[in-house]
Amino acid sequence: MGYSKQCCSLFSLVLLLVACVNGEDPYRFYTWKVTYGDIFPLGVKQQGILINGQFPGPQIDSVTNDNLIINVFNNLDEPFLISWNGALQRRNSWQDGVYGTNCPIPPGKNYTYVLQVKDQIGSYFYFPSLGLHKAAGGYGGFKIVSRPLIPVPFDPPSGDITILAGDWYKSSHRDLRAILDSGKSLPYPDGLIINGGNSAVFTVDQGKTYRLRISNVGISTSINFRIQNHKLKLVEVEGTHTIQNYYDSIDIHLGQTYSVLVTADQPPKDYYIVASSRFTSKVFTASSILHYSNSKQKASGPLPAGPPPDFDWSLQQARTIRTNLTASGPRPNPQGTYHYGSINITRTIRLKNSAPTINGKLRYAVNSVSFVPADTPLKLADYFNIEGVFSLGSIPDKPTEGPGHLTTSVMAADFRGFAEIVFENTESYLQSWHIDGHSFFVVGMNKGQWSEASRGSYNLNDAVHRCSVQVFPKTWTAVYMPLDNVGMWNVRSQNWARQYLGQQFYLRVYSPVRSTRDENLIPSNALKCGKAVGH
Ligand SMILES: *[C@@H]1O[C@H](CO)[C@@H](O)[C@H](O)[C@H]1NC(C)=O
Ligand SMILES: *[C@@H]1O[C@H](CO)[C@@H](O)[C@H](O)[C@H]1NC(C)=O
Ligand SMILES: *[C@@H]1O[C@H](CO)[C@@H](O)[C@H](O)[C@H]1NC(C)=O
Repeated sequence: MGYSKQCCSLFSLVLLLVACVNGEDPYRFYTWKVTYGDIFPLGVKQQGILINGQFPGPQIDSVTNDNLIINVFNNLDEPFLISWNGALQRRNSWQDGVYGTNCPIPPGKNYTYVLQVKDQIGSYFYFPSLGLHKAAGGYGGFKIVSRPLIPVPFDPPSGDITILAGDWYKSSHRDLRAILDSGKSLPYPDGLIINGGNSAVFTVDQGKTYRLRISNVGISTSINFRIQNHKLKLVEVEGTHTIQNYYDSIDIHLGQTYSVLVTADQPPKDYYIVASSRFTSKVFTASSILHYSNSKQKASGPLPAGPPPDFDWSLQQARTIRTNLTASGPRPNPQGTYHYGSINITRTIRLKNSAPTINGKLRYAVNSVSFVPADTPLKLADYFNIEGVFSLGSIPDKPTEGPGHLTTSVMAADFRGFAEIVFENTESYLQSWHIDGHSFFVVGMNKGQWSEASRGSYNLNDAVHRCSVQVFPKTWTAVYMPLDNVGMWNVRSQNWARQYLGQQFYLRVYSPVRSTRDENLIPSNALKCGKAVGH
């Protein structure tokens, strides 16, 4: 699925790049043609971003340590980049596909991403990272399964189903961007969709068990996911095998992914699969169908009701999501052998989100700094020592009072440090944060103001490690994060309006030793733009 027949024409490129990737691990080749095309997610015709004619785009099915060679041809009329929500790019921020690391692929041109899903398992997705492209599609599933012989803590399911759910706007990505550029906030979405619309049908055989990998690919709202008359058995969160609790429904915040097992153990008919918006004054609902292959009846009855619109309910549910310490991760050893709770913290970083008005326009900020992109990718400016693009320390590592300001913000961090990061949310908005290139242990989440005494409540035993985490209104979320990946990494709100209007920055994880053991060489096909042209 999704393999291209271009292996031979790409072979010479592979030889050039083979120094950067592990030659012993398998290669998978993809050729993706990115175009505009008509789609009807909410029943009306819209211009969507398609990959190889598909919306959602083709799925990446990989195995731990695979090398993925993805040649992306941009046939849009504007620059384009794809990024990977959760696939870590070890030693390789060169391929992260955000504007701080890569020059956009110009219209009519192509760029070949060369990535390796080193030491990783789990369920993720890819998405278009520039402007508001994500609101037009261009996303798809990205799964990394365990190598053969590495134990997985449940029987192989009879099927593996990717569910990409999220909010949707009838406005084009250009119109949404224009609203933000004019200094206004986005309106509520027009609806919710599952796998591109409201008509997906997933066929199952009675008595069998299926794995569903469910991502919130929307741009502005948390969702709740549930299936009529069926329990969801949680098994994996962004690469962590979890304690296998049963849930009637699961809250999935922006950019998050959960894997559940669902057994078709009900009478042979069709059942509603529902995603609905959370904590919005008007509730938007998307539905699709779980179809038993021996079904004798269409889905009927009211759509299954969601949980109360209650932050406490959601916070309590989040606290039940724990790591199965005796299950294997990407390697055969149990996940509990990494004792994150007994590693000394080398640094505490506190990040507070806000929504200041700057120069008369709405902006969003972290520690009062609202990010503005530079004319040159920061990674390239750093590598070529180009002056005047960014400066280290341009964002403080603690909240500051006072009005917000605009800066190309980059925070310095030392390779092999071990950071405690506290996300502080004093707004009445439900935040979701993501850090590229890393996964972090979610050690605490609680109401009120974080203080050093809050550390007493941390879970230092079986917290999950993941890459996107929510911060409820007027609460804090604390994570522990090994700084184990050299590079220039985007830290961002997963709310796309907030991200676009400045609620993001880059974390430069630095090693003074310039060694390919710690960081790959610059790819030979790296695109050049801005002040990097000619280097
Ligand atoms: C564009 O695709 C061609 C193959 O069609 C490949 O040789 C070339 O390296 C690609 N360009 C970049 C910048 O990756
Ligand atoms: C944890 O994983 C082990 C090892 O695969 C498995 O036997 C056990 O059932 C799992 N426990 C829970 C509570 O999920
Ligand atoms: C952590 O810090 C304590 C106190 O400074 C020290 O005694 C201990 O050896 C350190 N542990 C590690 C694993 O470095």
